[in-house]
Amino acid sequence: MKKNYLFTPGPTMVPPEVALAEAQSMIHHRTPQFSQIFYEVSEDLKYLFQTKAGDVFTLMSSGTGAMEACVANVLSRGNKALVVVSGKFGERWAELCKCFGIETITIDVENGKAVNPQDIETALNKTRGINVVFTTQCETSTGVVHDIKSISPIVKKHGALLVVDAITGIGVHQLLMDEWNIDVAITGSQKGCMMPPGLAFVCVNNSAWSVIEKADLPRYYWDFRKMRKELKDKTTPFTPAVSLVMAMKAALDMIKKEGIENVWKRHARLAHATREGAKALGLELFAGEYASNVLTAIKAPTGIDVDKIIKKLRDETGVTFTGGQDELKGKMIRIGHMGYVNDFDIIVAIAALEKGLYEAGYPVEPGKGLSKVQSLLVSKK
Ligand SMILES: Cc1ncc(COP(=O)(O)O)c(C=O)c1O
Repeated sequence: MKKNYLFTPGPTMVPPEVALAEAQSMIHHRTPQFSQIFYEVSEDLKYLFQTKAGDVFTLMSSGTGAMEACVANVLSRGNKALVVVSGKFGERWAELCKCFGIETITIDVENGKAVNPQDIETALNKTRGINVVFTTQCETSTGVVHDIKSISPIVKKHGALLVVDAITGIGVHQLLMDEWNIDVAITGSQKGCMMPPGLAFVCVNNSAWSVIEKADLPRYYWDFRKMRKELKDKTTPFTPAVSLVMAMKAALDMIKKEGIENVWKRHARLAHATREGAKALGLELFAGEYASNVLTAIKAPTGIDVDKIIKKLRDETGVTFTGGQDELKGKMIRIGHMGYVNDFDIIVAIAALEKGLYEAGYPVEPGKGLSKVQSLLVSKK
């Protein structure tokens, strides 16, 4: 019998509470009933982003829609953007900026490493007049986490806006919108929010507003000015994904109940156990000291076809990991552990990893990774 465990970098596993909330009867979106739910979701999202002053918009799209919306709203013709590229998703910021005709300068970071904030300072000194700096918090393609807290003051010192793709960061790693002075941050529903794909969230602070109001790139559906106006009336400019918004209410209730600090701590603990479990099997990690708590990226052992292992595990047992993307294809196994994941899920993940490797002929002693993980997860407290 197969049982599905989604250890991917998104979509992630959806709790029954959230799935049931999504299955409620449809309601019309221009009603006090929907407005109330939408208002509560928008307020609770402020908690998720750790903001009091910012506005949080719900977009009916995957994460990339929110990325495009940011580019279209914060930049104007003739502006310059600086983009941190440490993998596929940093690259996407650069592609989007270029697509809108923006002069785009990149800082190319070696795969598996985080950007050195000083390199941002150097780039901002070298090219004067950068308007916006785009970065990712967690680069999901390599498993790296960037130090947004240290990056922010550097960007501010140069008078630029900071826009952070925290699509896999939010609800996993600490991100303090107000305290760290982030201008715009985004996330998607199918990651730490424990939701199906389909919604994205954008948090905008006051400094960003003064830029957005005057920005002149073309935008219609993704116009933050329209969204802000409608948010004041507890609604959206266009028909919202009603069922997903209802599901998001349930997901946010769960996050509030656990407490965001505890959510961050749980992810840190589970990620640590996963990394140590993999190391106990003699495996090497891809991101080393820069590893995020979103996923564990493991280097493919020499001579082992990891994509074949991933396929076999998925099709025969229902345990889904992912491999590398693009030039990293065949070079890694990525085990996602974000969102609706607990201790025993990590036991399953490591047990499946051991099984897959063992059956592929990798010299692994079954139980070695598991015993390491279990020893880290049990506690006498
Ligand atoms: C860091 C990051 N940015 C952007 C995206 C793109 O989001 P989507 O696939 O939801 O459009 C992803 C998706 O995996 C991501 O992990």
